[in-house]
Amino acid sequence: MSISQIIAPSVLNANFLELGKSLAAIEKGGAELIHLDIMDGHFVPNISFGPGIAENIKKGTSVPLDCHLMISNPENYVDAFAKAGAHYICIHAETTFHLDRLLHRIVELGCKPAVSINPATPVESILNVLDIVDMVLIMSVNPGFGGQSLIPYTLDKIKRLRDLKPSMNIQIDGGIKLDNIQLAQEAGANIFVVGSAIFNTPNPEATCRQFVDKIKK
Ligand code: DX5
Ligand code: ZN
Repeated sequence: MSISQIIAPSVLNANFLELGKSLAAIEKGGAELIHLDIMDGHFVPNISFGPGIAENIKKGTSVPLDCHLMISNPENYVDAFAKAGAHYICIHAETTFHLDRLLHRIVELGCKPAVSINPATPVESILNVLDIVDMVLIMSVNPGFGGQSLIPYTLDKIKRLRDLKPSMNIQIDGGIKLDNIQLAQEAGANIFVVGSAIFNTPNPEATCRQFVDKIKK
């Protein structure tokens, strides 16, 4: 079985004054998922936006939303993100004592459950929930900021996970550029979050298309 190869632009580095234009650009550029980085200034040292903005983004695009919650106490917020129209709700394993319960709650809410781990968190910590989730997000940078460099050992984690679960959706997030996306794909990732490498270019639509062409060929 072949799994889909998908570019998921992160709007974290988009110009929020022109968010509608940015959404249209990546949609035309072939994005199949839009990655929303939710940061609380507690689990990660940065603050981004919450479910209200997610709800507005939902109204501005037909591309499914992938909500990456980098927040403490995620159990208090999953209902709001489901209501905002999330397709995936992704929880960091480090942020909850009751990961199994929370992933099941996401299913109950009608969303696709996903789990994420930081670079230093071992793959072993999520083995027991692999049959519950629809996607695993392997962080390839320490979460909190766009524009960082990919940490190479995280690719080994992806390889290990791909060997364990050949059919799993494995997402990589952080430091993906046109010149390293193939390495991530060879390691076994099939969903690629790209932030600054799309939005810090003069033509995000064309750049997004270049990323899509690289992974689909
Ligand atoms: C980091 C976020 C990433 C990041 C992606 O905390 O989860 O989604 O913003 O941005 P780039 O592609 O610039 O690393
Ligand atoms: Zn992210």
